[in-house]
Amino acid sequence: MNLLVTGGTGFIGSHTVVELLNNGDEVIIIDNLSNSKREVVDKIKEITKREAIFYEGDVRNKELLQSIFQKHKIDVVIHFAGYKAVGESVAKPLMYYDNNLISTLCLCEVMNEYKVKKMVFSSSATVYGNPKSLPIKEDFPLSTTNPYGETKLMIEKILKDLAHADKEWSIAILRYFNPIGAHESGLIGESPNGIPNNLMPYIVKVAIHELDHLNVFGNDYDTIDGTGVRDYIHVVDLAKGHLCAAKKVFNSHGVDAYNLGTGNGYSVLQMVKKFEEVNHVKVKYEITQRRAGDIAACYADPSYAYQQLGWKAEKTLDDMCRDSYHFIQKNN
Ligand code: NAD
Ligand code: UFG
Repeated sequence: MNLLVTGGTGFIGSHTVVELLNNGDEVIIIDNLSNSKREVVDKIKEITKREAIFYEGDVRNKELLQSIFQKHKIDVVIHFAGYKAVGESVAKPLMYYDNNLISTLCLCEVMNEYKVKKMVFSSSATVYGNPKSLPIKEDFPLSTTNPYGETKLMIEKILKDLAHADKEWSIAILRYFNPIGAHESGLIGESPNGIPNNLMPYIVKVAIHELDHLNVFGNDYDTIDGTGVRDYIHVVDLAKGHLCAAKKVFNSHGVDAYNLGTGNGYSVLQMVKKFEEVNHVKVKYEITQRRAGDIAACYADPSYAYQQLGWKAEKTLDDMCRDSYHFIQKNN
C-alpha cells in the first residue's frame, strides 16, 4: 500500500513508519517538525534500510496537501499530526483547537477532493473521561475535561459524520492508552522538550540524574497501592496496530473505534519498582498531591481490536522499561 503519514516524525508516527516500511509499504510523511526533528527521517532509514518520502510542512497548508495528493497515489492516510499536552491545552486552548481541528478539516477536504477516503486517526483513551467501570470498552460514554481531549472528541464526531454522509469513507479511530517504550535499536523514541509531563519520560530523567526525583501525584486513590493505575503499551505494539487498522480500512467501509491497550493496569509505584528491577537503577520518588484532572485508574478491554483487526499487544512491561531506558542512554 501507499500511505501518507501526517506527524510521521513524531513519537508514535516514527515507529509506525518503521513498521510500514518493514512491511514493504510505501510511505510519505508530512510533518512541520513542531515537536520532532528532521534527523528522525535518517534514523528511520538506518533502521529499515528503506526510505520514506519526507515533506516538511503543515497539514493546515491545503496547497501543500493538494500538491502531495497530485504527485503521489495514496491509498490510506494515517493522521497523527496534532498537539498532545493536556496542561498546555488548558493554558492555550485556541492553539489546540486551531492545530488539531483545522489540520483534520484540511486533510479531509483534500482527501475528498482526490477521492482518497480511507483514514486511520489517532484518538485517545482521554475521550472516556472518568470511566464508571473497568476495563473500558469502546461503547462506554464519552466525555472529557480539557481542550486537548475536546479536540479528540470533536474530531471523532467529525469523522463519524463524514463516514455517515458518504459511504465511500472508511475510517478507523484508534483510542490509545499510555504509549511508552522505544524502538529496540534505541534510534527512535520519545524525547519531550523541557520537563516531562508524563510518567515514563520523567522516570527515565530521574534514572539518569537529570531530575532529582519523581513526584508521585497522590497515594490516596482507590487502587492497589493508592497511586494512579494506567494501561501502558509498548509503542512498537501500538505501531503494529496501525498496520492492522490500515489494512482494515483499505478493505472495508464505514467508521469504527478501537481501543489499543494491553488490558493490564499498573500503578505508579509498580512502574517505578519494575523500572528499577529491569534496569538496575534507583528511581528516587516523593509522594505529593494529586494532579488536577487525573483519574484513579484507566485500562482497556482490547478484545474488540483483536476481534476486528486481528491485533493484540505482545510486548511486556519489562520490554517497555528496558527500551525506554535504552533510548535515553543512547540519546543523552
Ligand atoms: P508527537 O508530538 O511526538 O507527534 C506528533 C507529530 O505531529 C510531531 O512530529 C509534530 O511535529 C507533528 N505536527 C503537529 N502539528 C502538525 C501540523 N499542523 N502539521 C504537520 N505536523 C504537525 O506525538 P505522539 O505521541 O506521536 O502522538 C501522535 C498522535 O497520537 C497525536 O495526535 C496525539 O494526540 C495522539 N495520542 C498520543 C498519546 C501519547 O501519550 N503519546 C496518547 C493518545 C493519543
Ligand atoms: N504521574 C506521576 N508523576 C508524574 C507524571 C505522572 O505520579 O510526574 C502519574 C499520574 O498521576 C498518572 C500516571 O502517572 O497516575 C500516568 O500519568 P501520565 O501523565 O503519564 O499519563 P495520563 O494517563 O495522565 O495521560 C496520558 C496522556 C494523555 C492521554 C492519556 C490517555 O498524557 O494525553 O494518557 O491516553 F489522553
